[in-house]
Parts: sequence; C-alpha cells; structure tokens
Amino acid sequence: PSPIKIAPSILSADFADFGREIQAIEAQGADWVHVDVMDGHFVPNLTFGPPAVAAFRKHVKTVMDVHLMIAPVDPYIDAFAEAGADIITAHVEAGPHIHRTLQAIRATGKKAGVALNPGTPAEAVAHVLDLTDLICVMTVNPGFGGQKFIDMTAKIRALRAMIGDRPIHIEIDGGVTPETAPKVVAAGADVLVAGSAVFKGGSVDNPAPYGANMRAI
Ligand code: DX5
Ligand code: ZN
Repeated sequence: PSPIKIAPSILSADFADFGREIQAIEAQGADWVHVDVMDGHFVPNLTFGPPAVAAFRKHVKTVMDVHLMIAPVDPYIDAFAEAGADIITAHVEAGPHIHRTLQAIRATGKKAGVALNPGTPAEAVAHVLDLTDLICVMTVNPGFGGQKFIDMTAKIRALRAMIGDRPIHIEIDGGVTPETAPKVVAAGADVLVAGSAVFKGGSVDNPAPYGANMRAI
C-alpha cells in the first residue's frame, strides 16, 4: 500500500445517509475519514456538532480525523474527544492560545492537529511542534468543498524541513485532485483530504467511483 493516506471529507457526502457513506468510502479504500466541523463564525458555513460526530463514530472503523473550524475551540475539545475523534485539529488563527489548545487536546488522549489557513506562514507552528501530531495545510480558504486549489508548495516544503525527524503528518486540505496531489506529495505531504474529488460520480448505491477516484489521487 502507498504511504500516502487518503482522507475523504464527508462534507461532500449525502447528508441524509452518512452511515452508509462512511461504510462505502472505507470499503472503497479510505485510510481515514475527515470530518469538517464549521461554526458559521470562524468560517462562513455550518456543519456538525459533537452529537453528529458521535453518530459518525459508530460507522468509522479506520481513523476519525476531526477538523475544527470553530472559534473559540477550547470549550469544545472535551466534547469532540468524547464524541470519538481520533485526531482533533484546531486552527492557529482561531484564538491567541494555540499552545494551550494543543495541550488540552493531548490531555484528552487524542492526537493533536494544527491547521494553517493559506495566509498563515509555516512559522506559526514553529514553537508547538512537540505538541503536534499533524499539521493541516489549507489549500483553500476554509468553509466549503469544491473550491479551487491554492498552491502552498513552498509552505509544505518549509514545514517538512522544520519538522525534521519528528513523527508529524503533513495533511493537505482543499482542492486536492489527481492533478494537484502529485505536487503536494512531492513537497512532503503524506495525508491528502479530498471531498469533491472522491465523491464525484458515485453514490452509496454505486460506490465503485469512490474507489476509482481515490486510486486516481
Ligand atoms: C474546507 C474543508 C475541506 C473540504 C475539502 O473548508 O476543510 O475538508 O471538505 O473539499 P474539496 O476536496 O472538495 O476541496
Ligand atoms: Zn477539512
């Protein structure tokens, strides 16, 4: 198997059928399941709270990767941990205390991720690497699926150099397609989130395109 992990974002799934959608993407080869939590404040869209994430957990057999696009984030960390997240990722832009936030995520026993918007430099995480299991490099401005890829190759390379031999994943989120994926992998990414590029052309009743789309990435 490829060392590159594919994490389909269920933001592009059928919202009335999440259980079967999760089962379908895992059966088709997804490595992780990416869950986009949006609050209508940090980002201009609304999605799921902890009860929905707890319901997804019953279907996820791989790794549930929960991307929190919410501010503030600290009051909700325990709730998302209890909902069954395996990885909890918070944005460095969501508040003044990313160090405290990552400590709080680690304290729940979950893996801690930190996300960077396109306008935020790699250096924003330079002093929290020892509290971090994953760095999520946003290649769109967060809020919606199906947006155009923004090239963050230089940032990915800078992060890979900064990480050195620490066991930290570099995850790319936004606009990942068969065309853009090779570039981010060459720069040092090892986890690829993809929503529209995985779900296009398929459905829970016809899931084979999900697998073909993942293999094409
Ligand atoms: C964007 C989300 C992404 C999104 C990716 O705010 O964080 O995870 O679902 O969707 P695509 O792959 O369609 O850009
Ligand atoms: Zn995401």
